[in-house]
Amino acid sequence: MREIRNIVILTGAGISAESGIDTFRSAGGLWEQHRVEDVATPEGFARDPDLVLRFYDMRRAAIQTKAPNAAHLALAELDANWPGELLIVTQNVDDLHERGGARRVLHMHGEHLNAWCTCCDARHRWTGPLIDRPPCPKCEARALRPDVVWFGEMPYHMDRIYRALRGADLFVSIGTSGAVYPAAGLVQNARELGAQTLELNLEPSQGSRLFHESRLGPASAVVPQWVAEVLAG
Ligand code: OAD
Repeated sequence: MREIRNIVILTGAGISAESGIDTFRSAGGLWEQHRVEDVATPEGFARDPDLVLRFYDMRRAAIQTKAPNAAHLALAELDANWPGELLIVTQNVDDLHERGGARRVLHMHGEHLNAWCTCCDARHRWTGPLIDRPPCPKCEARALRPDVVWFGEMPYHMDRIYRALRGADLFVSIGTSGAVYPAAGLVQNARELGAQTLELNLEPSQGSRLFHESRLGPASAVVPQWVAEVLAG
């Protein structure tokens, strides 16, 4: 096995579950409470923008009441102390990695706390509601939408993600079901590029068999344990 210098970490909703943010596909999860077609597609937004804006306004307000958990803090510690390359690619649209202190983070599915102006293409930090159609601070058009990637839209930062994977010795997937591509395919890409692959998840996921190793348990326990191991060398 080659020495580990460069690490790519993929996180999903499971890492934020213990902070009180619903996952998508668990029993009672978000996609049981809401239809994906209604609240997470461009077509749904075109059909009923008020419904979609209200949904994201509620989620944006809710995440601001949540706090990072031990798993976010452990990854921040790894980020601060890891001498090699490290990239945390998150599918999550919350800001708990950043509030936990991590710096090397990419949001491939966008961010709740950003608004995107579909008129001038500017992005703005946004903590309040969008339902009242506030004007874009740059061009003043009332065309702001949540800066969240919907189904049928292209995830962000794919070039940077693939570049990091090409240099990775270890790919670690944390708290994701492996149901949504291209994120779900990154483990396969990493393997083909020669990286070791490790999954940390509460239960076996759809992609478990693709990993060299899987460790099961809540993120708040398994992530700090793995970080301590990897920092100890
Ligand atoms: P899912 O809800 O599909 O999967 C969450 C995973 O986390 C499951 O495998 C759970 O077993 C696991 N899990 C739950 N609690 C956990 C805990 N305490 N510790 C560790 N693991 C835990 O969420 P994602 O895989 O993130 O995309 O979903 C991927 C994408 O689908 C999301 O980014 C979102 C969604 O539709 C878009 O909206 C574009």
